[in-house]
Amino acid sequence: MALKIVILAAGKGTRMRSNLPKVLQPLAAKPLLSHVIATAELLSPEQVIGVIGHGAEIVKQRIVESNLVWCLQTEQLGTGHAVQQAESFINASDTVLILYGDVPLTRVETLEQLLFLVDEKHPLALLTIELENPSGYGRIVRDSDLFVQQIVEQKDANLEQLAIQEVNTGIMAVNGQQLLGWLAHLSNNNAQGEYYLTDIIAMAVADGYQIQTSSPNDVIEVLGVNNKQQLQDLERQYQFQLACNLMEQGATLIDASRIDIRGNVSVGQDVEIDVNVVFEGQVKLADGVKIGANCVLKDVEIGANTVIKPFSHIDNAKLGQSCQIGPYARIRPDTELADQVHIGNFVEIKKTQVGQGSKVNHLSYIGDTQMGSLVNIGAGTITCNYDGVNKHKTFIGDRVFIGSDSQLVAPVSIGDDATIGAGSTITKTAPEGELTLSRAKQLTIKGWQKPTKKI
Ligand code: UD1
Ligand code: CA
Repeated sequence: MALKIVILAAGKGTRMRSNLPKVLQPLAAKPLLSHVIATAELLSPEQVIGVIGHGAEIVKQRIVESNLVWCLQTEQLGTGHAVQQAESFINASDTVLILYGDVPLTRVETLEQLLFLVDEKHPLALLTIELENPSGYGRIVRDSDLFVQQIVEQKDANLEQLAIQEVNTGIMAVNGQQLLGWLAHLSNNNAQGEYYLTDIIAMAVADGYQIQTSSPNDVIEVLGVNNKQQLQDLERQYQFQLACNLMEQGATLIDASRIDIRGNVSVGQDVEIDVNVVFEGQVKLADGVKIGANCVLKDVEIGANTVIKPFSHIDNAKLGQSCQIGPYARIRPDTELADQVHIGNFVEIKKTQVGQGSKVNHLSYIGDTQMGSLVNIGAGTITCNYDGVNKHKTFIGDRVFIGSDSQLVAPVSIGDDATIGAGSTITKTAPEGELTLSRAKQLTIKGWQKPTKKI
């Protein structure tokens, strides 16, 4: 038995009021559909089949996961019709799992449990849930022995059926042979004139089968997204889950509802994260790291006991242990800081390696630079790395002292133990161990008279 997973994702999502197809709307910065595909892949299926229609071209462009084939449903004639489009990928010996592209947070354990219910005697298993307000959903109709008889859509239901609180989540697992047979008999003779996938339940019952059901642990697993408010609700609930995962790993969060994780974050022990921190991409925080309020960290690896002070922005960088960063530091891509480095307020640093114990504490721009250890860069130092056409490198040796308000015009080298006088514009190699400065001599005009106002 091979597992095939069909993801229905052709719907328009009119209520999103967006140019972006619904299944590409972001949850934690990742398209809804990508969440579903990622969960599907965890089940190691033989194939994942995406049924797309509205915005199919852009969906195909944006979603590039492997092991995925696309089926086009040019007209959205219903969920049954959508599954029919995938028929050519389904064999009689398969087990088919139906998922929805706009229901992103189903746990893999829940799906495993559902799949476990399908066997020779039970070709159809449904994921259902009891809702206080079942409005809008298909109702699960059971007989007096509590066996499922059929699913009735909201628009086709009578008053008695409308009162049923057990609803169809849409997610089901079906044996391939029976599914292909039942799909062939679907009709659109109903209130919406659609080919309902849910009609196969009554067909299975008519064929003498007992329908199996299971339920998710949490309603969040089956929540779909139809409008921006639901998207926001789901985002907040999901973010809270992710925050709880971090706390389970040992992180201390000042407020679990004021943190945003748009990627993967791993933390060591005793990591502290203050409020309004945004993580993007792959972030790794070693033991004892502290992140101050209002920081944005993207694709960052941070060594043990490093402190990031508030309002710092770090993108694609690797930071050593026991560094002090910020407040208000901006660390840009391809930067690597060794241990005990200090990067202070209003410092921008890009494509630069900084050696152990070096300090750039105030108001500097350091780009395309290789800096040794125990260097001290004075306030307002600028590496002039761009000549208007090309970028050039600056080399700074070990134990260098750069006086404040200096410009290092690249390409340029500063030797080990060199000192640069404050206010210098350095255009040539500064030799090691020497004081180099470029500065007009200071003069004082004796007896100079201040101008006076003409009347
Ligand atoms: C469907 C179920 C309903 C269930 C509900 C759960 C049917 C007939 N009804 O209703 O029992 O309670 O989901 O949310 O199945 N889609 C296509 N092509 C189509 C139609 C839909 O790909 O022609 C996709 C949509 O993009 C969406 C999913 O199928 O991802 C569900 O479609 P939707 O129209 O929202 O179904 P409901 O009417 O809500
Ligand atoms: Ca729906």
